[in-house]
Amino acid sequence: MSEERRPLISGNWKMHLNHFEALKLVQELTYLVSRDDVDAVDVSVHPPFTDIRTVQTSLEADKIPFFLGAQHCHFEEKGAFTGEVAPSMLAKLGVSYVIVGHSERREVFGETDAMINAKVRAVLANEMTPILCVGETLDEREAGEAESKVTGQIQSGLAKVKADQVASMVIAYEPIWAIGTGKTASAEDAQAMCESVRNVVRDLHGSAADAVRVQYGGSVKPTNAKELMSQPDIDGALVGGASLEAESFASIVQYRLHQI
Ligand code: PGA
Repeated sequence: MSEERRPLISGNWKMHLNHFEALKLVQELTYLVSRDDVDAVDVSVHPPFTDIRTVQTSLEADKIPFFLGAQHCHFEEKGAFTGEVAPSMLAKLGVSYVIVGHSERREVFGETDAMINAKVRAVLANEMTPILCVGETLDEREAGEAESKVTGQIQSGLAKVKADQVASMVIAYEPIWAIGTGKTASAEDAQAMCESVRNVVRDLHGSAADAVRVQYGGSVKPTNAKELMSQPDIDGALVGGASLEAESFASIVQYRLHQI
């Protein structure tokens, strides 16, 4: 981890937890995560849309220094898009980070690279930070295509985004075969792919690559967080399953205190 890049540990709650359960989890986390922890690491929580207002109120009322996140948004500002949520609506709720192009959005909901690029730009236009997700399937990895897949996703995801905006962003490398499967990329493989992500950004936008934060995601757990986070090009973690339980998420946030 470079000294200039602050680590970001993000909890992606996916379609789990109603707003009562979300509130309980946030309150449990506040007992477990200390001021020293949030001085060392940025923490974001990404509840389902129906929980965001409840979580926002709790974070503000109790002065909890976690960033509020969302998992998704539309790219248009308003209109006849039944079921969708505009980026400006999230900004108004105090959302700081929006996950864009998660593999589940790409695979289950057919989001294309063009849609994901439009979302990245819409999130930035609303002064929030996109967490752009990229990653390969097992077949692509076994065919030796992991780097080319991820390179293409970054090139299209960042199209028409200015260098200073790219510098402010987060890119999450999440190998699809590691998401929710309990299989984690080895620290060496995760580092190699995150370095390759940074190199693609360097080719596109020069020194923005030194500032962009690259997260690893895919079965991050308390037992592997420190080794992953110790890699020079891994600046954070996007955590799914292990973020749904206060003790495991708090332990990942406290990775720096672990023995490897
Ligand atoms: P996981 O999910 O930690 O449950 O593998 C990660 C993600 O989908 O962001």
